[in-house]
Amino acid sequence: MGKHMGRHLISIGDLADHDLRHIVGQGVRFAEGSADPRGLLDGAVVGVYFRKTSTRTRTAFSSGALRLGARLITYGPDDLQLNTGETVADTGRVLGRMLDVLVARTAGAEQELREFAQPGGMGVVNAMSALEHPTQALADLTTLTQRFGAVDGLRVLYVGEGNNTCTALALALSRFSGVHFEARTPPGYGMPESITAAARAQAARTGSTVVERHDVADLPPDCHVIYTTRWQTTGTSKPDPHWRQAFEPYRVHRGLWRDSPDAVFMHDLPAHRGEEVTAEVLDGPRSIAFDQAANKMTSAMAVLRWCAAGAASELAGVTG
Ligand code: CP
Repeated sequence: MGKHMGRHLISIGDLADHDLRHIVGQGVRFAEGSADPRGLLDGAVVGVYFRKTSTRTRTAFSSGALRLGARLITYGPDDLQLNTGETVADTGRVLGRMLDVLVARTAGAEQELREFAQPGGMGVVNAMSALEHPTQALADLTTLTQRFGAVDGLRVLYVGEGNNTCTALALALSRFSGVHFEARTPPGYGMPESITAAARAQAARTGSTVVERHDVADLPPDCHVIYTTRWQTTGTSKPDPHWRQAFEPYRVHRGLWRDSPDAVFMHDLPAHRGEEVTAEVLDGPRSIAFDQAANKMTSAMAVLRWCAAGAASELAGVTG
């Protein structure tokens, strides 16, 4: 059995600046092949518990754990005694004595994940909750670092719903210096105020800017990235039956490149061509969405290593 007391990644806010940069750097090294994952989690056991559908995140953490040498236990939505009334805290106390890391997609509140994270137990990874999708942001930062050499100084335009991918991106990008993050979200579908406040507080500290507007006029020029997500976020529904009318102006199309001709296109996937993005953009030469998807696995490996191991300073010597 592995040594416990793992660290948790439930929110980007759980990471110190040096942890964030370390995980991104390690994800890049795994992606580029300059770090060898083999054996880094030998003897560890990783639990993967998904209550909601997933193609990328579940496979990324499962394949990543296996590549690191860990063994896997997977739980579907109907498997745990949570369904028969066992508390989350009791479940966390039990699993925490048997697993080294639990990767969980609940699509619910962060509080549930924090209850899984019992003192002295396994590390807990948020594989997407209602408020935040932190491991998506880490894959995105890994992709940006590969593409541009650094995250600092980038100008990122996000067009679409202020969903959990958008919030994690805002919280993560604002931790880097000189970043401009601008979200254009439909009225009524913006980021929660608590997130914009937190991201702006970080941006004030790092010399970055976080802007949110609810129109698609006067888009910021010279962006490095134009990013969108699908209109129906996993695990959510929209009470207003006419919500599509609000989203129509936010479809990403070729015209958005007028003032940012060199921007790359990013999308967390899955995509619906013709809805949030045209096929021409998603499948076009500016799109790096599928490289981004591949980095879900390399960044997941970096997350697992960070959660299962000691302090980031101890990991600094890990090269392969
Ligand atoms: N981007 C993302 O989280 O994809 P999945 O829902 O397929 O995991």
